[in-house]
Amino acid sequence: MQNNPHIREQLEAWVEENRGHAILGNTAQYIPALGKEDPSQLGICMVDDNGNYYCAGDTDKEFTLQSISKALTFIALSCNYGLDFVLERVDVEPTGEAFNSIIPFEIHRPNKPFNPFINAGAITISALLPGQTSQKKYEFLLHFLEELVGHPLELDKEVYDSEWASSHRNRALAYYLKEAKFLEIEVEEALDIYIRQCAIKVSTKDLALIGLIIAYDGFNPITKVKHFSEEIAQVAKVLMVTCGMYNSSGNFAAHVGIPAKSGVSGGIMAAVPPKLHSQTYEFRAGAGIGVYGPAIDVQGNSAAGTMMLRQISKEWDLSIF
Ligand code: DON
Repeated sequence: MQNNPHIREQLEAWVEENRGHAILGNTAQYIPALGKEDPSQLGICMVDDNGNYYCAGDTDKEFTLQSISKALTFIALSCNYGLDFVLERVDVEPTGEAFNSIIPFEIHRPNKPFNPFINAGAITISALLPGQTSQKKYEFLLHFLEELVGHPLELDKEVYDSEWASSHRNRALAYYLKEAKFLEIEVEEALDIYIRQCAIKVSTKDLALIGLIIAYDGFNPITKVKHFSEEIAQVAKVLMVTCGMYNSSGNFAAHVGIPAKSGVSGGIMAAVPPKLHSQTYEFRAGAGIGVYGPAIDVQGNSAAGTMMLRQISKEWDLSIF
């Protein structure tokens, strides 16, 4: 696709149309450093297979990965140990419960966490990252992500400290995991790596690029580098569709229909696979999308960001279904 100024103008208009939907949510108050963000921010970047970036709204701002990191840890770990190793330790079933719920565990007593995107599953698999210490595990993940985005990434120390100090529920979950023998390292070490991965700073541009690589089954069509296998990308996309937006994944699939992963910072990473029979010309060869809108709804997804994706998907026929 040629770089098309019309697309950027269209995105600018949709950002402004959807900005007001922030009122349907609020910033993540349970992590004080996220709670103080300006809720009216909204930005989007899309990248196509030729490396054309189309960015609109508040895209200068960096924000933390939060739960988006869960998809990336899943991919990094699967690359290192193989998909079978990871799927022996975490399932691929949605729960229909909140991302930080303890209820599925108590009720079902599963032999492994339900999926790697709920906090229980994510803490379990983060603890498995290669390295003897949480620092080494973090470095492994960071290096993997830097290879994907093509530049150094940093930790947001303020967000890390803020979550570490307020992470009572995750601490409770981690003790639960330890008791169930799912955690192979100590609780504090597991929490440290998990909270660190959540506090890695990215831009909407970074998320768009990673989304594009996932859409292209682990291949970066711009640099021509293959980062991970089709097999891993396929399961990552299944997880994004079924669990990526937590207990509104069904609604998101119906109204947006794009594999995506959200975070309570207000970020959304979406992977638009190529669609030869698309009704429109825009992004027929696929795209990656990064969104930032820090007012989140009760399920933990960017309120305005979700509404904007709904509009974009409909207008440009991006649904995979
Ligand atoms: O563990 C937490 O609560 C946060 N660090 C991440 C949760 C999150 O992003 C859920 N997302 N929508």
